Amino acid sequence: MTEMIALFPTPMLRCEGLVDATLVAQLRSHLQVQMTVPNVQSAQLSHSQILYPEGDALLQTLTDRLMPTVVELGEQIFGQALPWRIKELWGNVLQTGGYQAVHNHANSFISGIVYLSVSHPSSRTAFLRGLGGRDFAFSNTNRQAQTGPYNAEKWLAPEPEPGDVLLFPSYLLHEVPINHGAERVSMAFNAIPERLDAWGYSIGFQ
Ligand SMILES: [Fe+2]
Repeated sequence: MTEMIALFPTPMLRCEGLVDATLVAQLRSHLQVQMTVPNVQSAQLSHSQILYPEGDALLQTLTDRLMPTVVELGEQIFGQALPWRIKELWGNVLQTGGYQAVHNHANSFISGIVYLSVSHPSSRTAFLRGLGGRDFAFSNTNRQAQTGPYNAEKWLAPEPEPGDVLLFPSYLLHEVPINHGAERVSMAFNAIPERLDAWGYSIGFQ
C-alpha cells in the first residue's frame, strides 16, 4: 500500500450564505457613506476607516454571526475552542480596473472576508504560498507540469456570492487581482483569542 500524506495543511473556512440578504443590504448602506480612505496602490480601490463593533449595533450583529466560525477555525489552529474577539472590521469597494496588492494582516490571528456584492470571476481572492526570500529558487513550472496542492504557488478562492464568508490564518498572503467586472464590495475583519497558554507560559491579548 502507498499513501500520499498531506503534511501540515493550512486550515481555511468557507461559509456559504453565512450573512443573510437583509444584513448584507444593511451593511452595504452602512458602508456607503464611509468609503473615504483611498488605497495607496490602486486608485480604483477605497476603504472605510477601521470600524469597531463595540457600540455599533449593526456591526455587533455581524460579529455575533461570524463568531462561531472564528471559534471553529481557531479550534483547528490552536487545538481548543477559545474565547475570541473580532477587534476591527473595515469595508472595501473595488471599482472596475482596481486591485488589492499582496498583503497579510499584522497583529491578528484569524482574518476574514465578508462578500457583500457579486464578484466578477477576475476578482476572486487569491492566496499565495510565499514571495520568496534570499535563497535561490528552483521550480518546474512549465506547460507539461501539473499544478497540485504540493507545488501550487497560488490558490484562487471559489467565486463568492453576497453573504459568503472566508476565514483564514492572518499570516497568509493574499491579493485581489484586477477586477474586470462591476463594483465589488466586501468587508474584512481581524480576530484575536483572549489568551494562549503554552504549558503555563501564557499571553493575553486585548
Ligand atoms: Fe486582506
